[in-house]
Amino acid sequence: MSTERTGFLGWIDERFPLTKVWKEHLSEYYAPKNFNFWYYMGSLAILVLVLQIVTGLWLTMSYKPSADDAFASVAYIMRDVNWGWLLRYMHSTGASAFFILIYLHMFRALLYGSYRKPRELLWIIGVTIYLAMMATAFFGYLLPWGQMSYWGAQVIVNLFAAVPGIGEDLSVWVRGDYVISDVTLNRFFAFHFLVPFLIAGLVFIHIVALHKVGSNNPDGIEIKQGPKGNRWDDKAPADGIPFHPYYTVKDIAGAVGFLILFAAVVFFWPDLGGLFLEAPNFQPADPLKTPEHIAPVWYFTPYYAILRAVPPMFGSQFPGVVVMFAAILILFFLPWLDRSEVKSIRYKGILSKIAIGVFAITFIVLAWLGLESVTPAKTLLAQIFTVLYFLFFLLMPIYSKLDKTKPVPERVTKTSWMSRIKTKPVPERGTQ
Ligand code: HEM
Repeated sequence: MSTERTGFLGWIDERFPLTKVWKEHLSEYYAPKNFNFWYYMGSLAILVLVLQIVTGLWLTMSYKPSADDAFASVAYIMRDVNWGWLLRYMHSTGASAFFILIYLHMFRALLYGSYRKPRELLWIIGVTIYLAMMATAFFGYLLPWGQMSYWGAQVIVNLFAAVPGIGEDLSVWVRGDYVISDVTLNRFFAFHFLVPFLIAGLVFIHIVALHKVGSNNPDGIEIKQGPKGNRWDDKAPADGIPFHPYYTVKDIAGAVGFLILFAAVVFFWPDLGGLFLEAPNFQPADPLKTPEHIAPVWYFTPYYAILRAVPPMFGSQFPGVVVMFAAILILFFLPWLDRSEVKSIRYKGILSKIAIGVFAITFIVLAWLGLESVTPAKTLLAQIFTVLYFLFFLLMPIYSKLDKTKPVPERVTKTSWMSRIKTKPVPERGTQ
């Protein structure tokens, strides 16, 4: 039977592979049937990326990127522009929500070994997206031109000055001036507008890479290598179900749940007690008055704590800067550090379970320490947790190899209603 379309869709299909793409990536893309809660985060991240681009575009229509006008233009958006307050709070809450989702998304990859072969490149693209997100958030934070915008940017751009030899020139080049100024604000605005579109492009490649290798799942089993034949297709993986409609519906349910929480924060608690919007940022930037306590927004604080934990050498902060960047860049190497015979934490042994548990606690403690003022006791704590952070990665080749793993089942295990979707009975292996 011919499946060729007629009419308008047929006209399009003759000129653009619309039906083909729809089938390959949605209605005939077979995803493992045992996805759980953690698998919401990817689609929610796409939702938030779109929200950020749309609200950002509308904010731009009333925002003025100049040192004289920026702060006042934000106040104008909040008070006078129709729905301006909503656009702004959606954008500021969206930034934090984006990082929450991405941290959970990355942690899921850690839990189920989703960075392992054949998904190394998918992971590397992901880490690149994470870097681009950090850059975007950093550029964006200067735009309201509040006290914390100004002094936060001052602290971070000054880090470039710590690079031996070229540091001073480098920091002037980044700022375009000797201090953070109107020139800096202008270029940060330009980049803040541009990079989200690069992120959108990277997300596209991320999904293409994902669909080339297929999704991992909570059991860490390659469904493409398992038995074949489900009720839709004799050649498709037996443990796969079509992404559309099954996961489109599941993801819509996730989006509804997420948007309820998101709206609760936007309408009732947009500063989240100073975590999403910091108090000093409600005062205009004053180059002559340093705030008592400078701290970046929560999603940067684990790395800020690492930066402050490393003592200066010969009066230079350079070692701290190197260690801080190493803490981020080490993520790229994860696929080659994990030597376990199994992917998913479900079948890993006690060593890996302890390691991942300690790592999660370490990240949270570092995030908290980065928000706090420096005291000798807290610096010592930050040093201990910085060491723990790196040990998770550096000792991984050893503990993941020594770990006593459990046998991995042949088929994905049933944990959700999705996984109970009936597929054709599959003959035992070897009898096919
Ligand atoms: C704008 C940011 C991002 C978006 C929109 C995004 C989107 C997605 C989507 C839609 C999926 C498939 C559904 C799912 O598995 O949840 C996915 C899978 C994946 N992503 Fe991302 N992602 C982003 C950032 C990242 C980052 C920062 C990393 C890692 C550093 C990452 C690593 C992965 C991995 C390893 C998978 C495969 C997971 C599996 O099959 O178990 N992603 N991503």
